[in-house]
Amino acid sequence: MAKQSSSAVFRKRWFVALLVMLSVTTVIAFVIRATLDSSCDCHLDVAAEKRFQSQSVKPHTGVGTSPNPLSFMKSKTVLLVSHELSLSGGPLLLMELAFLLRGVGANVCWLTNQKPSGTDEVVYSLENKMLDRGVQVFSAKGQEAVDTALKADLIVLNTAVSGKWLDAVLKENVPRVLPKILWWIHEMRGHYFNMEYVKHLPFVAGAMIDSHVTAEYWNNRTHERLRIKMPKTYVVHLGNSKELMEVAEDGVAKRILREHVREFLGVRNEDILFALINSVSRGKGQDLFLRSFYESLQLIQAHKLQVPSIHAVIVGSDMTAQTKFESELRNFTATKNIQNRVHFVNKTLTVAPYLAAIDVLVQNSQVSGLLLFT
Ligand SMILES: *[C@@H]1O[C@H](CO)[C@@H](O)[C@H](O)[C@H]1NC(C)=O
Ligand SMILES: *[C@@H]1O[C@H](CO)[C@@H](O)[C@H](O)[C@H]1NC(C)=O
Ligand SMILES: *[C@@H]1O[C@H](CO)[C@@H](O)[C@H](O)[C@H]1NC(C)=O
Repeated sequence: MAKQSSSAVFRKRWFVALLVMLSVTTVIAFVIRATLDSSCDCHLDVAAEKRFQSQSVKPHTGVGTSPNPLSFMKSKTVLLVSHELSLSGGPLLLMELAFLLRGVGANVCWLTNQKPSGTDEVVYSLENKMLDRGVQVFSAKGQEAVDTALKADLIVLNTAVSGKWLDAVLKENVPRVLPKILWWIHEMRGHYFNMEYVKHLPFVAGAMIDSHVTAEYWNNRTHERLRIKMPKTYVVHLGNSKELMEVAEDGVAKRILREHVREFLGVRNEDILFALINSVSRGKGQDLFLRSFYESLQLIQAHKLQVPSIHAVIVGSDMTAQTKFESELRNFTATKNIQNRVHFVNKTLTVAPYLAAIDVLVQNSQVSGLLLFT
């Protein structure tokens, strides 16, 4: 596939180029610092606190000379709790955070709450990537998890569903741990507004949410439906990675990637290629995307419009996961007889080639504030 055929050009970079990266480290640093500061149980010694304070009042002087904004996390222990480990947006963002924290010398531990039993190739390879970069990977349920949670300086709970981990594993220790939790919420779907997941939300140090719309929605829903109050909430938009930007600015690389991917998909250079880059699952909008695409084809035909031929690519296929939904999508393309216009590409960390190859990226904001590459 395209990934292999053009790998010589870009192989080494693509892992880092994963999806959306947190290039906004300054903002993240601010949030993490605020969480640490507001936490009454974060085991910071006085000297360290003083240092934070003196750092936070120091004005930033010139980009070239300013230290890494996360450097105050050096030697701190951070526990990252992920609901799953997969090639979807939430876990990948958290992994990116893990690597940023490793980069400044933090001790980073990772737990995956819902781990498939047996061996899963994706989990195995992602865990190895983390181990290679010095992230410690623990079982979500062992004593090590509890001990680490108790001694950690900061715990990042990723996604609303990770809330289930708290009672299940920490049990009577939950109240001790809550004040050092930063809860990173991406989702916006109705069923996440459920006390089973979020009953401890009001008591954590802070919530970090990817967009103002999502933050307002959470504010509203927790208040009106659950009668609970959001903790202090920080909106941190997701950035683009440096690596994606490099490809975007490199005309030659972009052209080569575009040619490779189009050749692989069977799309000509002059055709117009629409894409949705999301893990295929209900709520991510692939169904709406395909329906609109089909309607466009019908309109073109009905009005005999003179336009280049159009194609659609869905990057994020996974026939091992949400098979029913994806079967419905594939069935739709078959019954409408548009298989030659619709292309499914397996989930991948290597999205830059697809971004280079397409003409229009479609983003669905129906149920998730986290738009890009989830
Ligand atoms: C919350 O949502 C409800 C229902 O959508 C709406 O009527 C209400 O005005 C919203 N409240 C706020 C504060 O946005
Ligand atoms: C896509 O994934 C499926 C399993 O989910 C696998 O059978 C297939 O070979 C993969 N396709 C490519 C082109 O890698
Ligand atoms: C595929 O679509 C046809 C026609 O709409 C339907 O009868 C069939 O049950 C569908 N199959 C699946 C697997 O969704």
